Amino acid sequence: MSPFQNNPIGVIDSGVGGISVLKCIREHLFHENLIYVADSKFAPYGEKSSEEITHRVLTVFDFLNKQDVKSVVIACNTATAASIQILRDRFSYPIIGMEPAVKPASLMSKNKIVGILATSGTLLSAKFSALLEHHSNDIHFITQPCFGLVELVEHGDLDSPALIALLKKYIDPLLKEKIDTLVLGCTHYSFLKPAIQTLIPDHIKIVDTGNAVANYLKHVLVEKDLLSQNIASGTTNFWTNSLDKNADKVMADLWGGNPESYNYRGLWV
Ligand code: DGL
Repeated sequence: MSPFQNNPIGVIDSGVGGISVLKCIREHLFHENLIYVADSKFAPYGEKSSEEITHRVLTVFDFLNKQDVKSVVIACNTATAASIQILRDRFSYPIIGMEPAVKPASLMSKNKIVGILATSGTLLSAKFSALLEHHSNDIHFITQPCFGLVELVEHGDLDSPALIALLKKYIDPLLKEKIDTLVLGCTHYSFLKPAIQTLIPDHIKIVDTGNAVANYLKHVLVEKDLLSQNIASGTTNFWTNSLDKNADKVMADLWGGNPESYNYRGLWV
């Protein structure tokens, strides 16, 4: 039996976007203690260099290592693309990353035209190019970097007229290309699903990755004998380094659900 079974799991993102993944993890893994760390002071990552992103992510890992995490989920496509290999080389516990749902979308699309919304960092990464290349035999992919969306979600804006106008600017060209499947390749965008749905016809399917990541995490924990043996429900602690006075409220709203399950722990650095 692993001595680390009841240690916490870290879930990290450049900001609040990874809370969309955290919610899926909580649904799949009821007894785990979860520590969410938002690096919001340094968001967005999308236009930073890989070196800068890796430096930030290593700083977040230092914080989590002091809390004896047994595993970390990088709930951020951009950070995964920039740094997962370096992290896996450095730390021995399981590190779960994310990538845009290109494969599931390829299988779902009937007309073989798939749109992908992501940050420019993800779209320009070697990891993403390889992923696209692997699936582009019979699928036409249209990629769209979405500058400015992450900043709005960071402020808790999920549906203002300015946000809808920006979304429309990014989605209209994909509609013109007649996509039937839309990949949300950034965890912040999962919170925009209701707004996106108002801008696209009903037959277009939206795909994101939170559930698949949560399922995979569970599989890895079982395989490594790291599943929590707690009988009580797990705790969910939230940390941010945002100096915005609304940061706590934004995180609580995005988490939603039972306020007792939300524990704000404050500034982490
Ligand atoms: N939530 C992040 C992602 O999945 C990154 C957003 C950003 O900081 O640019 O890519």
